[in-house]
Amino acid sequence: MSEPNPRSKSRANKLRVGVLASGRGSNLQAVLDAIEAGILDAQVAVVLCNKKDAQALERARRHGLPDAFLDPKPFAGQADSREAYDRAVLDVLRKHDVELVALAGYMRIVTPVLISAYPYRIMNIHPSLLPSFPGLEVQRKALEWGVKISGCTVHFVTEGVDEGPIIIQATVPVLEGDSADTLAARILAEEHRIYPRAIQLYAEGRLLVDGRRVRIVGD
Ligand code: GRF
Repeated sequence: MSEPNPRSKSRANKLRVGVLASGRGSNLQAVLDAIEAGILDAQVAVVLCNKKDAQALERARRHGLPDAFLDPKPFAGQADSREAYDRAVLDVLRKHDVELVALAGYMRIVTPVLISAYPYRIMNIHPSLLPSFPGLEVQRKALEWGVKISGCTVHFVTEGVDEGPIIIQATVPVLEGDSADTLAARILAEEHRIYPRAIQLYAEGRLLVDGRRVRIVGD
């Protein structure tokens, strides 16, 4: 069994979260709103995007937060382009003393460069009940399968895509007449609730990784 996350030993300062995003940034916004509402005791140390026009960057600026656009293009020619990109990401995260990385609609696969630098310190939010429907377009796939219940998952990031230990899940019903968009909207509301909650549990040092399972200490 692994140690409780390192927060349990150093709780004097607010947890410094680095958010990686590629688009709309509504989960980033949920984190910022939870911080402002006093239900998440953390600070967003930096918002890093791989897309220049990501709305997440605007949200960061509106909140006066450090933001960074890191263009993948200059790395594209290199043999280890994904790893080289992640080394640059790591530089940004370290420069801002990031303790926990939160992927929030980040449309890149993170490499072992990041994962080994932040073991069990990278979270992701995914709009399905993992291990069902990993990957993309998952609300459409859920409807096609005819599932009656869907939801979202916050998990730690390990090398397999959408495979890491599950921290929290929330369910929503799939309704007659749902489209991928209406289902996605219902799931998104739950994402906005559980992502800040998962980060708060981390901040409190209450997440204990035990193989595939994450125990929530004190629950
Ligand atoms: C969310 O549905 C999240 O679960 C998935 O990508 C979407 C990002 O939305 N990984 P946003 O950028 O946070 O609004």
